[in-house]
Amino acid sequence: MTTNKTERVLLLGIDLGTARTAVMSNRHFRGLVHSVVGYPKDIIGVKILNRTRVIGAEAIEHRSLLDLYHPLQDGVLKETSEKDLEAARELVQHVVELAAPMAGDRICGIIGVPARAALSNKGQLHKIFAGLMDVAMVVSEPFMVAYGQNRLNNALIIDVGAGTIDLCAMRGTIPGPENQLSIFKGGHYIDGLLEAAIRDAHPGVQMDRYLAQAIKERHGFVGMAGEPVIVPLRVHGRPAEVDVTEALRITCETIVGDIVESIKRMILLFDPECQAAVLANLLLAGGGSRIRGLAPMIEQQLQEYGEVKVSVASDADFAGAEGALKLATELPPEYWDQIGEVVGG
Ligand SMILES: Nc1ncnc2c1ncn2[C@@H]1O[C@H](COP(=O)(O)OP(=O)(O)OP(=O)(O)O)[C@@H](O)[C@H]1O
Ligand SMILES: [Mg+2]
Repeated sequence: MTTNKTERVLLLGIDLGTARTAVMSNRHFRGLVHSVVGYPKDIIGVKILNRTRVIGAEAIEHRSLLDLYHPLQDGVLKETSEKDLEAARELVQHVVELAAPMAGDRICGIIGVPARAALSNKGQLHKIFAGLMDVAMVVSEPFMVAYGQNRLNNALIIDVGAGTIDLCAMRGTIPGPENQLSIFKGGHYIDGLLEAAIRDAHPGVQMDRYLAQAIKERHGFVGMAGEPVIVPLRVHGRPAEVDVTEALRITCETIVGDIVESIKRMILLFDPECQAAVLANLLLAGGGSRIRGLAPMIEQQLQEYGEVKVSVASDADFAGAEGALKLATELPPEYWDQIGEVVGG
């Protein structure tokens, strides 16, 4: 009887990010969706797409036909219009459906959201999740990463996301607001700068933020360039090979100074006798952790602090969702209210 009961619980670990939402289930499902919902601008779009709503990569691909809604911005849930909230709900519903719940399943999810959203939008997020899951709990993403990677004490997580860079000091307890810090310069900030830098250097170039983002994801780096980065673009409508090496380096490096300064501040939260251990236990996570050369450059800029080790989470896309699922699996839903506020139950 008991076994039967546990079998009918679908546990979900969800990482609801500004750029992408990852989901993992206790039935070994993993999915990754761009956090964007598109609604056709008019009837032509509905006719071409044969739908009134498109979610994820497909929405970006057909962006000229759609009004796009990104439910999260600058690390918080957009609550400016009903449509924003509807988009957020449809996105979460979509990822829950991807995990293929079966009729009669009790759906219990732990949802990691950017640190600022966990603090400021909890009520609204709970409302969204309440209709879609039987039990839901919202936690901050960097804490989820720390949990998943077993860095629970004397560790500093640096989650380089799309909307914000979230730092979280792990001091052996569940981190409160005083142990978290957000920098308003995530991947989207770099994309905007890169788009402008390429436009400035190459008048007539066709460029938007999605293209800039794609170039950054493919070639982004800080420090010494390996090969020059030459990308095929269109200038005044004609195909052209464009050198974006310097633009990429300069724009990717804009986040390094803030990260280093924030690490210096967060280190002070730890007792002096622990600080060396923390400096040897810095962890980069989030999509931006893939910018080449980032970890060594941070280490180098912290040289005066003695031995510093910055490692990079092995599976940046799923590190948050994996941590959420791990927590959901290790702690029965009945106990989730010890960690945060729970809806349902
Ligand atoms: N290879 C790469 N090089 C550089 N940046 C990358 C790479 N891959 C992804 N990114 C960037 O990482 C960001 C997405 O990371 P992630 O999925 O961790 O963000 P998120 O969780 O959606 O955002 P947030 O945590 O701010 O809500 C985007 O800005 C994306 O362009
Ligand atoms: Mg994130």
